[in-house]
Amino acid sequence: MFSVSRLCALKTTPRLFLRCESTKADQLITINNKTYKSDPEFTNVTPSIIAHVNRSLHKKPNHPVNILRDLIEKKLSSVDNAFTTYNNFAPVVSTFENFDSLGFPADHPGRSKSDTYYVNDKTLLRTHTSAHEMECYNKIDLTGKPGFLISADVYRRDEIDKTHYPVFHQMEGCRIWKNRSIDEVKVDLKVLQKKLDEHEMNLIVEDQSLDNTPEKNPKQQYMTDQEVDLVSQHLKRSLELVISEVFNQKINSMKKEKKSVNIPNELKVRWVNAYFPWTAPSWEIEVWWNNDWLEICGCGIVQQQVLLNAGYKKDSTISWAFGLGLDRIAMLLFEIPDIRLLWSEDNRFINQFKDGQINTFKPYSKYPGTTRDVAFWLPDSSEVSTEIHENDLMEIVRNAAGSLVESVKLIDRFQSTQTNKTSLCYRINYQSMDRNITNDEVNEIQKQVEAELIDKFHVSLR
Ligand code: DAH
Repeated sequence: MFSVSRLCALKTTPRLFLRCESTKADQLITINNKTYKSDPEFTNVTPSIIAHVNRSLHKKPNHPVNILRDLIEKKLSSVDNAFTTYNNFAPVVSTFENFDSLGFPADHPGRSKSDTYYVNDKTLLRTHTSAHEMECYNKIDLTGKPGFLISADVYRRDEIDKTHYPVFHQMEGCRIWKNRSIDEVKVDLKVLQKKLDEHEMNLIVEDQSLDNTPEKNPKQQYMTDQEVDLVSQHLKRSLELVISEVFNQKINSMKKEKKSVNIPNELKVRWVNAYFPWTAPSWEIEVWWNNDWLEICGCGIVQQQVLLNAGYKKDSTISWAFGLGLDRIAMLLFEIPDIRLLWSEDNRFINQFKDGQINTFKPYSKYPGTTRDVAFWLPDSSEVSTEIHENDLMEIVRNAAGSLVESVKLIDRFQSTQTNKTSLCYRINYQSMDRNITNDEVNEIQKQVEAELIDKFHVSLR
């Protein structure tokens, strides 16, 4: 299944071989004019990643990610004006904010260096907008609004292809009832339901999570069944409203562009059970689009511990939260075929979009690309000490090639019967979104990739 929200904090990537890589001690790293001490054990941010921290596509006028963010913010705020929006949080956060405050267990794969960009042992580039939940819950009284929406760039080490980029954008949404007043939830739900009923989208909702026994997706003990029922309805109806609006705008734009083939006149969505460390119960919502179920968003009722961390009193509040990935939904709405295009500065890309409007991206002639293979023997496990992941190889390529790399794929793997050694061959696809690349330039990059593989991972090239 193609995943839109990239809730892959729960995902692990394959281990490839063993590593004895380290960063030099006491190096200083500057991000957004702030300096951090590096840590030879932890630091794995690279200059090519740091170069992204000020791009903020979610705030860039006339950019698809910005258009989508604005659309969702407007729709949610139109119900009862309950949300403060935060779009300027800087991406360097503490491990406490990103993981501990949300109840991530110590051995959660999301914490691993293969998945996360660490600045040092206590500091990292946020892997999700949930990292700011605690801070924003804490500010509820100051803002006077019972909800907030946080949009920001987030960072994850990952594979390289048309739908994965190490920097992408998420929106977090939260809503709290500070005194657990059932009457208040009922009133809020009524207002929301009316808005949903008025919406012109014909939404067909299947809730698979209702068929499951509560043991599979348990509520927290301090809450009553009625509270969970009403608050989860408020959460689910809020997200159904967002999806109705986003996909209705897409359908209307298809009609306007006279794309008569396959214009749906209704939209199917389904709720399924999920698990996140900081919510219980938890769900995901999926949308049936282009003959596939797309995972749009993860959500749930916030764990009491998060609210206690934010300064609330025990058993005093109830709250929901959701998190969705903006880039892949924007790609779907604007029919943008390669995620790297979102980062393009080419006028032929930038000038195609306008705030408040969804339209289909018109491809322009691609600059020619070229491929290079890199084949190597892995070292014996006896020769090296710690393990590495495929993402480490991806990072070497990203660091050498920047945005000139389109994809990296394993095309061959075998084990020699004589030496027992493993051979891997990766095909690197080089192509620029913005200009012609020369063979000499690609050869130089390829040489750097090979040299780093030897230097850091002690492979022998074949
Ligand atoms: N932070 C999650 C991720 O990036 C997404 C998410 C899921 C956010 C559930 C939430 C939530 O607030 O309740 O994988």
